[in-house]
Amino acid sequence: MDTILIRGGASLKGTIPISGAKNATLPALAATLLTSEKVHLSNIPHLADVTTMLELLGQHGAALTVDEKLGVEIDNKGINNFCAPYDLVSTMRASILVMGPMLARYGQAEISMPGGCAIGSRPVNLHIQGLRAMGADISLGDGYIRAKAKRLQGAKIYLEPVTVTGTENLLMAATLADGVTILENAAREPEVVDLANMLISMGAKIQGAGSSTITIEGVEELHGTKHSIIPDRIETATFIIAAAITDGDIILTNTQAEYLAVPIENFRQVGIDISLEGEGNMRVRGNGGLKAIDIQTSPYPGFPTDIQAQMLVLNSVSDGISTVTENIFENRFMHVSELQRLGADIKIQGNSVRVRGVDKLIGAPVMATDLRASASLVLAGLAAEGETLISRVYHLDRGYERIEEKLLALGADIKRLSE
Ligand code: UD1
Repeated sequence: MDTILIRGGASLKGTIPISGAKNATLPALAATLLTSEKVHLSNIPHLADVTTMLELLGQHGAALTVDEKLGVEIDNKGINNFCAPYDLVSTMRASILVMGPMLARYGQAEISMPGGCAIGSRPVNLHIQGLRAMGADISLGDGYIRAKAKRLQGAKIYLEPVTVTGTENLLMAATLADGVTILENAAREPEVVDLANMLISMGAKIQGAGSSTITIEGVEELHGTKHSIIPDRIETATFIIAAAITDGDIILTNTQAEYLAVPIENFRQVGIDISLEGEGNMRVRGNGGLKAIDIQTSPYPGFPTDIQAQMLVLNSVSDGISTVTENIFENRFMHVSELQRLGADIKIQGNSVRVRGVDKLIGAPVMATDLRASASLVLAGLAAEGETLISRVYHLDRGYERIEEKLLALGADIKRLSE
């Protein structure tokens, strides 16, 4: 198993491109199941989760042509297997995204039930309830969700709590349903909007994506398309914090500041100098003098839960005492005990943590527990004095494209050790 070794203290300097968004790529790949014409997707990040989704499509019968630079072409003429098996779903919960499209287009889907995961129980009841409201016959047994439907029917569906992949699953299913579907309290994330734009380019009739009410008028069939994935806002935020805590000066290209309006406002309050430099470019300078601030995670456009772990590192090396509250997932503080090993002063109090800024973090061996938690350990290692050795970095590879190469290019002292 690979580990990452970081010698902290180097100031990050230089320019790096931001990759396509993982959380936009996964639904876009699932959406290809809605048509038998070819779909071409570009700006696809090279990530373990994307490979898992491609494997899943492949075993459903998709023909895939992958070009490292140009993207991936998916030809779903030959879909003949409607089962998403345990080995794939258990490595990636987002596999559930194939359920809506497969059911809508082929009238059947059998998906291994996603189990619990490190950050909480993460149920899929809203995906199931929504599809049932659209007329699907769904049974649960032997660890599988089995769904059948002649043709899905439009329905009015209220989603509580707001769910990102739940909204995406039902949005995809509704494009081929008979009649109008209205999704209320829908997720407003940019990745949902990107999916809707892709579906519209395939002939879907969708209004209101990006607002809390999405209206979908079902059509008989969808056609092929070419679609470029939006930039990854979570990777962007992670690099902003990396620059800030190393007193760096970096330029991020191929990104989109509007997807990060609230976090950028918060980062500026901390004292990070962020300037937008033309189309998709962002300059980030850390000039010391950082001041910790209170943060609450919430659905978009609020502060994303996927940046909460990284924010704890920022607050840990900033002046003052702060409170960070996690409102989306019940058990998303697994990184706290690892950050404490590096000298962070953090105390968990229910679904909040109290962070007291320290003068410096000190390197130590730590273990990654989930995707965004691993990013926080890399950040902490960059700011810490001495060596930090991070194990279980396969979590990191699920969501960050070549993170150590990108950081190395910015002058970090970082290397991957393969066994
Ligand atoms: C997506 C993102 C993930 C991000 C999360 C929240 C993808 C592939 N993953 O995950 O990176 O951290 O949004 O922004 O896009 N819930 C239910 N019932 C359901 C579904 C969800 O109660 O059927 C609850 C969850 O337990 C959680 C909340 O709703 O408390 C939000 O979860 P959700 O938005 O569904 O997260 P994901 O879509 O799994």
